[in-house]
Amino acid sequence: MEQTKWWKHSVVYQIYPRSFQDSNGDGIGDIPGIISRLDYLRELGIDVIWLSPVYKSPQDDNGYDISDYYDIHEEFGTLADMEMLIAEAGKRDIKIVMDMVVNHSSDEHPWFLEAKKDRSSKYRDYYIWREGEPGQLPNETKASFGGSAWEWDEEAGAYYFHLFSKRQPDLNWENPQMRQDIYRMMNWWLEKGLGGFRLDVIDNIGKVPDEMIRENGPRLHDYIREMSREAFQNYDVVTVGETWGANTEHAKLYSNPDGSELSMIFQFEHICASHSEEYGKWKQEKKDFVKLKKIFSGWQRALHGCGWNSLFWDNHDLPRAVSAFGDDGKYRVESAKALATFLHGMQGTPYIYEGEELGMTNIHLEELSQVRDIEARNMYAELKEKGWSHDEIMEAINSTGRDNARTPMQWDNSEHAGFTTGTPWIGVNPNYRQINAKLELGNKNSVFHYYKKLIALRKSPEWGEVLAEGDYTPYMEEDEDIFLYLRSLGEKRLLVLGNFHGTERTISLPYEIKEVILSNYPEAHKWDGWIVLRPYEAMMAEI
Ligand code: NOJ
Repeated sequence: MEQTKWWKHSVVYQIYPRSFQDSNGDGIGDIPGIISRLDYLRELGIDVIWLSPVYKSPQDDNGYDISDYYDIHEEFGTLADMEMLIAEAGKRDIKIVMDMVVNHSSDEHPWFLEAKKDRSSKYRDYYIWREGEPGQLPNETKASFGGSAWEWDEEAGAYYFHLFSKRQPDLNWENPQMRQDIYRMMNWWLEKGLGGFRLDVIDNIGKVPDEMIRENGPRLHDYIREMSREAFQNYDVVTVGETWGANTEHAKLYSNPDGSELSMIFQFEHICASHSEEYGKWKQEKKDFVKLKKIFSGWQRALHGCGWNSLFWDNHDLPRAVSAFGDDGKYRVESAKALATFLHGMQGTPYIYEGEELGMTNIHLEELSQVRDIEARNMYAELKEKGWSHDEIMEAINSTGRDNARTPMQWDNSEHAGFTTGTPWIGVNPNYRQINAKLELGNKNSVFHYYKKLIALRKSPEWGEVLAEGDYTPYMEEDEDIFLYLRSLGEKRLLVLGNFHGTERTISLPYEIKEVILSNYPEAHKWDGWIVLRPYEAMMAEI
């Protein structure tokens, strides 16, 4: 029988280092800052930290542009700090997962500098070049951060390919030497005792630029199996691939329980469900709750027994969960807890993004000068050209832009929310006096304490196995307010139930509740098989 993997029982916490905790007053979060907050994370009960990139980088895309995979960016600390973080986290039974960005490097990586300079260098073919004339693009492929994916380089006398910013040239995965260099580097990090890797946009590595194939290219899974064999399978680690283009069939390959590829993927079907055809996330349709539930249920059913899900509402690229899916006004606390209940009841590994456990919200920006994110800044120019007004663009940025997730962690009500003694690199959300970790820790009904209970439940002898391995059966799938599903394993049955909206609903339950295990309201109102669900009321109950 397949041995149960430790990460099936883990809860992951994502840290965006720039915004978590500054230790030296330069306004930028750093590794010593993270170390100083490890006890907070231990208190929360998480097992794994996914650390967004801390490698040496010109920070064109906040570290997702790496210029030296073997070193740490000076604003974040040193290699010794990183080793210390791994050790200090380890003392608290927390593993560190590093973000590995290998679809592209920075344009300041020595490989790229060599490749540009010298056509005969072995590094030329580490990137993707096309001959041509300035102004005559090889094809129409667009970069995710706006503009063409082809950039003319004067020194190289050729176009190079970049799916993200022009300072993030794509690596050529068809080059076997390049692949070996990457695996060597991955092993070097794994030797330091890492818990694993989160693999940035990994479904892009099999791209075929001439055919305009970005994701799911023909050799993608060959590369991933090779990477797994050459690096991950040498260690007992967790690996999670970021895959915007994955469906459940792809996911079964990626997360095959035989361990030939990765542990799991981050897929975004529930996030993209409301995106529009023409403008993607920048113009969204009203969220369709029935559709959303069906997406979750589809993934739960499809991967049960033959793959593994990541469970998340938000991350550093997405708006805050409570603002995007809940109510960040009147029912902020209730809806933050409800969202957590629905997600943490499912099968998979839950991910918490820094501040989510406090119910942190989106921020409201008025001016472009307040926007830090390269994607939003580039998009501002593009949408302006398409005739959008300043207010329309700012509204889109405020509801869906990445800076929402990147405002500093709100620790307490002191200046700059306790994030820094200097000037923060990005504005603190002014609601930090009402929403901060110190207040949350001191209030036993807080969002923080609710998350703590959810995490503890996943590890409890009573419910841990049911949550990790149990069947998933949804009910009331066409209902526009109610999220209801059953998790069951042998005799044990856990009902996850709640109201996704801000109005009261009375429903008849398919089962009788034996005991409420966890709830976001003090006491459930039920009688004779009927239950009143107050705004965003949610619970887990034994039946
Ligand atoms: C996905 C990362 O999550 C995002 O933050 C980054 O900008 C792109 N990949 C490019 O690396």
